[in-house]
Amino acid sequence: MRLILFGAPGSGKGTQGTFISETFGIPRLSPGDILRDNRRRGTALGKNAEGYMDRGELVPDSLIIDLIRDRLQEPDAANGFILDGFPRTIPQAEALDNLMAELGSEIDWVIYLRVSEESLLERLGGRWTCPTCHQVYSPAVPPRAEGVCDNDGTSLVQRDDDRPEAVQVRITVYNEETAPVLDFYRQHHNVVEVNGERPVEEIREYLTSLLGGGSKGAPLGAALRQTA
Ligand code: AP5
Ligand code: MG
Repeated sequence: MRLILFGAPGSGKGTQGTFISETFGIPRLSPGDILRDNRRRGTALGKNAEGYMDRGELVPDSLIIDLIRDRLQEPDAANGFILDGFPRTIPQAEALDNLMAELGSEIDWVIYLRVSEESLLERLGGRWTCPTCHQVYSPAVPPRAEGVCDNDGTSLVQRDDDRPEAVQVRITVYNEETAPVLDFYRQHHNVVEVNGERPVEEIREYLTSLLGGGSKGAPLGAALRQTA
């Protein structure tokens, strides 16, 4: 199963991608998480990316495409993966098509989480993240103990790019540079649109039952063409 999880900042890609990864045993490949790990470790990639990320801008395509090319060739991605936050520009989408052709493989489905701008602003302002395992929390999805990750006990943090100024830039960048990628996929691939405003558990159950209906690596059937 090779999936792209597509949506604006705060649409729930990380939340639902984590569930899909755990349920179907395929890795979630998130350039945002990989870049944040590199920043924490002080690598050259992390240093190159930090200014763009803190301003809410996209990191240059060449850096991201190299990062994804390497990640897709790691052994755990051989039988499937979920891309969370890639591609975000038309050149990235074209590079992914070329890369999949080189690997003799293809993307099965693009899942688009549709959420209003009003909800995005509210969610990003209330998000807390675990810097160790990347689990996200919010008033809608609180940790069991306040300020502490359920999975590993790490103290939760707020992301630098969840400051109001950076959030506004991220949403503008999404509308201008990333939304056109959805039209690209509608022309070339199978896209399923999901109402991402619904409660986390409802979306999770919906996606699990839809994805559970298909066999690994195969398209998932006409049911997925509906709008949830
Ligand atoms: P990235 O880390 O990918 O951030 P993003 O796309 O802006 O998305 P978020 O992680 O903010 O939101 P999400 O959709 O994962 O939502 P979440 O599940 O957390 O990218 C960060 C930066 O890295 C970019 O700005 C850029 O600089 C760089 N970058 C990354 N990829 C790049 C690329 N391809 N090219 C160039 N640069 C790139 O949910 C949000 C909140 O809402 C949480 O608190 C959650 O608990 C809550 N929530 C989730 N679902 C629901 C629900 N159904 N109801 C109520 N609350 C919910
Ligand atoms: Mg995320």
